[in-house]
Amino acid sequence: MTAASPLDAASSLRVSGAGPARGSLHVPGDKSISHRAVLMAAMAHGSSVITGLSRGHDVAHTLRAIEHFGVVVTDAGEGRVRVEGPIQHEPVAVLDHGNAGTGIRLTAGVCAGVDGLSVLTGDQYLCRRPMERIAAPLRMMGAAVDGRERGNLAPLVIRGGSLQGITYAPKEASAQVKSALLLAGLSAKGKTTVEEVHPTRRHTEEMLTEFGARVNVDGRRVTVEPGELTGTDLAVPGDPSQAAFWAVAALLADEGEIVVEDLYPGFGRSDFVGVLERMGADIDFDLSTSTLTVRSSRLRAVELTAEDIPGIVDEVPVLAMAAAVAEGTTVISGAGDLRAKESDRIASTAAMLREFGVEVAETADGMVIEGGARLRPARVDSHGDHRIAMTAAVAGACAAEGTTVIEGWDSVATSYPRFAEDLMRLTGTAAEVVA
Ligand code: S3P
Repeated sequence: MTAASPLDAASSLRVSGAGPARGSLHVPGDKSISHRAVLMAAMAHGSSVITGLSRGHDVAHTLRAIEHFGVVVTDAGEGRVRVEGPIQHEPVAVLDHGNAGTGIRLTAGVCAGVDGLSVLTGDQYLCRRPMERIAAPLRMMGAAVDGRERGNLAPLVIRGGSLQGITYAPKEASAQVKSALLLAGLSAKGKTTVEEVHPTRRHTEEMLTEFGARVNVDGRRVTVEPGELTGTDLAVPGDPSQAAFWAVAALLADEGEIVVEDLYPGFGRSDFVGVLERMGADIDFDLSTSTLTVRSSRLRAVELTAEDIPGIVDEVPVLAMAAAVAEGTTVISGAGDLRAKESDRIASTAAMLREFGVEVAETADGMVIEGGARLRPARVDSHGDHRIAMTAAVAGACAAEGTTVIEGWDSVATSYPRFAEDLMRLTGTAAEVVA
């Protein structure tokens, strides 16, 4: 599965604003759900057919990884993928997760339960991201986990098997950490419980139940019992974090009205809608039809604190762009973990905003954005981060008059092949490749 569009394989993209933003669309299948679907189907006994899987490079890496465990992956036609589990043996090759933090951390949880040796790695950005958050609890469960810098950085080496269930309270609010432990817990002796500091997305809990596992959720405490998974068919809904780019596109444009259909309607993924509502946006997420509708609006500043962050952890760059044009000063705090994303997202978001002429100050765990900016065309470095690239593309196409250039555009193929095509269709901008 490679980038579906030459524009998304390009290393730079040029867009011209400030056009309208109008139309309706479907965004790619949810990336978080896709990784989990692939991994759980690999662990499960029997066949699972997955519809609507994310076609980005991140999930393609997870699909390739499960084949190294002897799991059979086939094309089931009409965009569906068939996975025949369960895992047969230790992986026969190094598991390369590319840019995918969710891919490597959740797979590490699976490897901890596999009797044998697994080696996991990724690209230059992934190999800089902290892994101790999963390595430490997996060691407590009985896996031997090592890596560069005393086990904190990939490549990671895991010798798994014979796990013991634990009760663990990660210091980060992280669905990836929670999920790695729950997946490992399936093959542990005794129950595994994770106590979250703030509630995070619940895909793992929801989906483990669909695969037949016994999971109990009691407020911020999630417990999984050891047991086998059974293959099942599932449909992956649209990714709300991708819809957020189109919501802000509609808000930034003078003439904006965008409808996004078939989004995941569950817990912890669409909090950006509430944040934009607080900012005065004309936005509606109809949960009965899973349809998001957004129209151009005058925005006002907002204050975002640690409690808000887990629900908007992936949308901060694009919300920061909305704050740049809003009236007043927006303060974001309690977001220190954003420094450990695909890029240091506090630094890369602030740098992007400055390129567009926005006044912004970085703090240790957030930023202060002076609103009311008239965006000027920018030259933005994505820092290898798809969400920075897509935010800049939306601002360049819908708000900044003149030509914006985004360097490192190829990062977008990790999650949203065909983003540039959707941008051209909805905004009329003539996106083109720059040598
Ligand atoms: C994800 C959890 C979040 C999020 C990431 C996907 C997941 O990461 O930022 O894009 O699928 O569990 P953290 O667990 O590091 O907060």
